[in-house]
Amino acid sequence: MIAIYPGSFDPVTLGHVDIIKRALSLTDVLIVAVLKNSSKNALFTVEERISHLELLTKDMPNVKVDSFSGLLVDFAQKHNAKFIIRGLRALTDFEFEFQMALTNRELNSDIETILIPTSLQYLYISSRVVKEVAHFGGDISTMVHPAIYDDVKKKTEQS
Ligand code: PNS
Repeated sequence: MIAIYPGSFDPVTLGHVDIIKRALSLTDVLIVAVLKNSSKNALFTVEERISHLELLTKDMPNVKVDSFSGLLVDFAQKHNAKFIIRGLRALTDFEFEFQMALTNRELNSDIETILIPTSLQYLYISSRVVKEVAHFGGDISTMVHPAIYDDVKKKTEQS
């Protein structure tokens, strides 16, 4: 079985890594797919985000990192993926995730969305929060992996 875990991952947080690990117990292969979206004001380039994800998943042989543009369901179908994985934090995520899941089902009913609740310790983390805290010189060591900590700090200080 193949599943896709899509997102912006700008940058990848410990919350994302937690979802990747949880998803691996549900699928044989997990494709982490970074959205190539020129309209979004991204901090890291797609290539940088891919290299962060590859670094953090290098000991997970069943994880592949890729990027996509266009519709997620088309990317999923192209890779024979039957499932889309998304993490769920608080109730505030639910509306967007539910709408996205139903839209994707409308577009391709063969692909099911699985929403995985985050671990409690990562409930408050988002890429946006990481960027904001780092930009103002705050400590993000509980939010991002040590392997990418310096990179995130450096880039946010420049932004
Ligand atoms: O990490 P994000 O920004 O919440 O991820 C959002 C993402 C990439 C999953 C979503 O924007 C997406 O799938 N975009 C691709 C376009 C698409 O398929 N849209 C239809 C579903 S709403």
